[in-house]
Amino acid sequence: MTCKNRFGISFIILSYCMMLFATLDSRAQQISEDSIRHKMQWFADAKLGVFIHWGIYAVNGVDESWSFHNKKISYADYMKQLKGFTAKHYDPEQWADLIKASGAKYAVITTKHHDGVALWKSGPLNVVNNTPAKRDLLAPFYTALRKRDIKCGAYFSLIDWSYKDYPGFLKDSTRYSVSAQPLRWKKFQEYNKGQIQEISTKYKPDLWWFDGDWEHSAAEWQSPAIRNIILSGNPNAIINGRLQGYGDYETPEQNFPVEKPAFPWWELCMTTNASWGYQATDTLWKTPYEVISIFADVIGHGGNLLLDIAPKEDGTIPVEQVQILKELGEWNAKHQEAIFGTRAGLPAGHYYGPSTLSKDSSTLYLFMLGNPEKPILIKGLKNKIQRIRVLGTSYDASFKVVGKISWSPVPGLVYVDIPSVSKDRYLTVLALELDGKVSLYRGKGGLQ
Ligand code: GLC
Repeated sequence: MTCKNRFGISFIILSYCMMLFATLDSRAQQISEDSIRHKMQWFADAKLGVFIHWGIYAVNGVDESWSFHNKKISYADYMKQLKGFTAKHYDPEQWADLIKASGAKYAVITTKHHDGVALWKSGPLNVVNNTPAKRDLLAPFYTALRKRDIKCGAYFSLIDWSYKDYPGFLKDSTRYSVSAQPLRWKKFQEYNKGQIQEISTKYKPDLWWFDGDWEHSAAEWQSPAIRNIILSGNPNAIINGRLQGYGDYETPEQNFPVEKPAFPWWELCMTTNASWGYQATDTLWKTPYEVISIFADVIGHGGNLLLDIAPKEDGTIPVEQVQILKELGEWNAKHQEAIFGTRAGLPAGHYYGPSTLSKDSSTLYLFMLGNPEKPILIKGLKNKIQRIRVLGTSYDASFKVVGKISWSPVPGLVYVDIPSVSKDRYLTVLALELDGKVSLYRGKGGLQ
């Protein structure tokens, strides 16, 4: 290797590290917890939201936007779907009823995905001017949600692969580079901010769900300016964490975080099968038990679940998704005390399953994953248990404390036995009424 080459390689590595550092830095959380704590309360209590991916991709049942970006279908063919998007059976009241029945406290709909097709009359591509649907699809939905006291969320893709002044397009080509044509980029920035302003003025979302921030830095997106547009329209609006460090909560996607995320507010977004948008061939449905147990795990870690549904082009919701939401809703209604308005439960090691705590921390809720046959075990609980209720039933569970040494401060092991008739068909939940705020033993056993 020549000196020149070696220098070349070091230079590339150095530039890469600098780039990575710049990206990490701009993605670092810029918003302090204390400055948003007040407005985040409803979100922290909400626990469940419904995500809706609705767009022209439902016509052929192809990946939302990514199908042309990744060249699975040509851009021209993708856009032919505009002609087939009818929304002819769209019933926003029925959608909102279903969302209410699921127990969700908020809903987030794709106002515009990466393909640039807006669900309201805006910009060069939208369902009002360019599809047989011929009407604003957002307004009646938000009205229906508000009537039912469900908070309104707007998913908005920062990326717009259709817009002529947006640099990105197909996976292996771009229209131009921002540094080479800053004025052209500025045109896009204005367009983008204009659409955000429109949504803010017209629909006043309670929550904004940005997506696609990975294509540019905070400075390029003008993240602080975007945040400012939103908050000057509604100071209490909540902004998800995909604005290169200028959001209010973290958004892990599809895969469950193994440990509780560091930031106090977070939300797992997850599909009900394997696709965000409607795809008739995707039959990888999660069962109600799977969805319920994932949901329990999420809230046990203090997070929210944003569960996706994917209406067909005509506005009907696939029966499998209706069924999942209804089953989840019944389970939520039966166990609501353990879910809504609660806090994250016990740290790992005390109980092998998800748990939550009442706001005053004096009731501990245990979610019995897999509905075990044998008594369940709790370790290191210093409190006296006054009573154990099996939620949604009139039964109490009995318990036994073993291994307690009278002169030692180490609490005994609690075994809880549940009457089998009281078991839920999906996931039984126990409410342990404690003698005060939960108090845990974290020592090494023995005399300590
Ligand atoms: C991803 C994808 C997108 C989907 C979103 C939902 O970031 O780009 O297609 O809408 O996740 O979380």
